[in-house]
Amino acid sequence: MDQPHAHLFKPLNVGGIEVRNRIALPAVLTNFARDSRVTDRWHNFLVERAKGGCGLLVTEIIAVDPLALAHSAIVAGFDERNDDALAKTARDVKAAGGTLVAQLWHPGRQQLWQPSHSPMGVSDQPDAYSWTVPHVMSTAELKRLGDAYVNVALRLARLGFDGIELHGAHGYLLTQLLSPWSNTRADEYGGPIENRTRLIRDIAAAIRHGVDRPFIVGLKMPADEGVSGGINPEEAASITRRLAETTHFDYFAYGQGNFSISLENHVPDMHFQAGHFIDLHRQMRAASGGIPVMALGRIGTFELAERVVAEGFGDLVGMGRAQVSDAAFANKAERGELAAIRPCVFNNFCWGEVHAGKPIVEFHNPHLATQGEAAWSPARATIHKRLAVVGAGPAGLEVAWVAAARGHHVDVFHSGDVPGGKLRLEAALPGHEEMTKVIDHQLVQARSTGVNFKAGQKVEDLGPLLENYDEVVVATGSEQRQPEYLNDGSVSTYSMHELARARERKELPRGECAILFDHDHTAPTYAGASLLASTHQRVVLVTPRTQVASFVNYCSALGIHRRLHQADIEIITASTVASIERGAATIQNVFSGKERVIDNCDTFVFSTPRRVETQFLEVSGRVHRIGDAMSPRNLMIAIHEGHALGNQL
Ligand SMILES: Cc1cc2nc3c(=O)[nH]c(=O)nc-3n(C[C@H](O)[C@H](O)[C@H](O)COP(=O)(O)O)c2cc1C
Ligand code: SF4
Repeated sequence: MDQPHAHLFKPLNVGGIEVRNRIALPAVLTNFARDSRVTDRWHNFLVERAKGGCGLLVTEIIAVDPLALAHSAIVAGFDERNDDALAKTARDVKAAGGTLVAQLWHPGRQQLWQPSHSPMGVSDQPDAYSWTVPHVMSTAELKRLGDAYVNVALRLARLGFDGIELHGAHGYLLTQLLSPWSNTRADEYGGPIENRTRLIRDIAAAIRHGVDRPFIVGLKMPADEGVSGGINPEEAASITRRLAETTHFDYFAYGQGNFSISLENHVPDMHFQAGHFIDLHRQMRAASGGIPVMALGRIGTFELAERVVAEGFGDLVGMGRAQVSDAAFANKAERGELAAIRPCVFNNFCWGEVHAGKPIVEFHNPHLATQGEAAWSPARATIHKRLAVVGAGPAGLEVAWVAAARGHHVDVFHSGDVPGGKLRLEAALPGHEEMTKVIDHQLVQARSTGVNFKAGQKVEDLGPLLENYDEVVVATGSEQRQPEYLNDGSVSTYSMHELARARERKELPRGECAILFDHDHTAPTYAGASLLASTHQRVVLVTPRTQVASFVNYCSALGIHRRLHQADIEIITASTVASIERGAATIQNVFSGKERVIDNCDTFVFSTPRRVETQFLEVSGRVHRIGDAMSPRNLMIAIHEGHALGNQL
């Protein structure tokens, strides 16, 4: 059912420019730039989301000054060699009906990618993330930097952009100025709100006076910085009121946290409740004096976005990750095709890739930032084949629906009652329920393309049956392997998968002490730790590495550490389990060989490198192995491999 009358699809006047709907793309760094230059994928990322129906699009961070260039995958806004590509992006976004705003950025002292050549600070405290001590800018240096923001804004106005957004959130330079936590200056930029907002007000005024047409000036700032002595909601409201008085700002967006451990709040993951920060946005809206507010943070569905506007939490709805996973979110939502939206499950995989300095990757959107992404659908095959897919995990489901959409006959054989494979087990762990949406989305596609499911099929019985197919895809996944240690069978032993199955059956082990052997370091293992903490008085996590959660993106890892510590889970690093005898676990340090004994254990859970489930499958004809059945890797690879094969067959 079309939803043109939804609040979400009503236009909004922002700074004299009509934005076609309330859906905004908040800035998403893609690392697609090369040598600080705009690339085709940088351009496509924005243009495809405009084609997908997004109203207001904010570019990723654009450096305003050579010393802001933390690395070479960030676009230099001051470099005229980018002019043509930036102008083309502005033109193409506009042609697709979108409104394009450039996010102007300087990191100040904060250094997410070390080492950096140029930490510039407003005071001399170290960056909370990297402990980098910056050069403290003089009053004149700050003024010059203010000019750099203005110059880049005026350049972008000349190139056809609809506006700019000053990045004053997440603890970067402008937050450092705004926040009493980081700004201890004694000059005209330090002290009361009047001084701390001075540079931002001056920049906004100069841009306003420098552009003689409607040109949006937005500000992203924290509504809650999440540190004691920093910008809290009251302070944020006061800052908002002062800035609103100037009449130089056309919208305010609010992103939480800074580079302290509150960084977790800037990309709230699946453990946060949906729309976690919308109440905060309503408070800011009350302070903004009618200037539009963009509410954002873990808003992933049409229903929630609609509620945000209808109930006055925000005027615009920032949907960053929701539109990373589906460029056509807005179009599909407006047409009422909600089941067709590829859902964001807020696992922060994409953020982790960018934090690692790599180009952004989305784990179930293989076409991210390719030309035609927003309207992509599988091309019909010229020869229609009979295809058997063995295994209904994420890799099998992906190849199945894509191949079926191309016109092939596809039968999926799976051993369980319901499709979903091990991903369904992950979704049974606390806080990971959201992962079900990945499977559900694949099942919607599979059903609409006519995939046939054959449940309760044992692989070993399939041999003769598979001879009837032109192509066979083995996507049977993997199982965690039992670690090597001396075990007299005195404690109940589970793999993490088995623990999840026990939870599904409501047969969780309970007791005094559980040992969790973590040879995995992915997020589900720590969800399992939380589960054990709810069933055992004592949980001891043992890992051979010197740290935990090394395969979890930094932001989500912060949440993991918080939950582990809040639940008093004991962590023993650099150690392995040597033996479990008569309920006593002997833990051995991998460096020193020293041993310690933990008595009264009743449960042992291991999360370990996995083993391919189906090593051999003898069938004539063409056999393809994908995902973990090829070699156990991560969910992104499983889905992308299934997708690629579905397009090739
Ligand atoms: C991969 C990634 C890159 C991001 N890059 C930026 C950025 O360049 N500038 C910025 O202000 N925020 C950035 N953010 C934060 C988003 O703009 C947004 O505030 C945050 O993701 C919460 O919104 P969401 O829940 O709709 O994703 C990034 C987020 C992600 C996931
Ligand atoms: S990778 Fe994860 S967090 Fe990022 S857009 Fe996709 S589902 Fe959302």
